[in-house]
Amino acid sequence: MPHSICYVSNSAEGLNKEQLEAILNKTYTNNSLKEISGILLHSMGHFFQVIEGDEDEILSLYEKIKVDNRHHNIFEVMNKPREKRFFEGYATDFKIIRTSQQLKDILLYLEGLKESSTADKLHRLLQPFIID
Ligand SMILES: Cc1cc2nc3c(=O)[nH]c(=O)nc-3n(C[C@H](O)[C@H](O)[C@H](O)COP(=O)(O)O)c2cc1C
Repeated sequence: MPHSICYVSNSAEGLNKEQLEAILNKTYTNNSLKEISGILLHSMGHFFQVIEGDEDEILSLYEKIKVDNRHHNIFEVMNKPREKRFFEGYATDFKIIRTSQQLKDILLYLEGLKESSTADKLHRLLQPFIID
């Protein structure tokens, strides 16, 4: 059964553009190779991430992410096996969210999953990331 983890964190103080790009690019490359889906976005000093895929793969990746000193104050929102990947209906590959439009599309997708309380929770957490 696929495993899903979602968290919000604070990016390290002084993290510059190049360092952020390095995280986003590495994440996209590694996750695509390992068929890990989900989303990663960075805004106003916060990261929001969902990683989904094979349980062993996800749990060991999360152990690495948790000790990465480029962020801290990790607040875990979800960490559980799921029948289906949560973002399966949104995208099969991993997405780096770079624009407000991409974020709005995700919020719409979450609104469509009305029956899910997790979707509501993620929606509430993501809403403040929209800046315009
Ligand atoms: C906020 C944040 C999210 C990250 N997400 C991922 C991820 O989804 N996949 C990944 O491979 N690395 C991610 N990383 C980087 C890992 O912590 C770690 O540096 C990387 O996986 C090491 O990859 P390597 O073993 O190929 O060098 C993330 C780092 C940060 C700070």
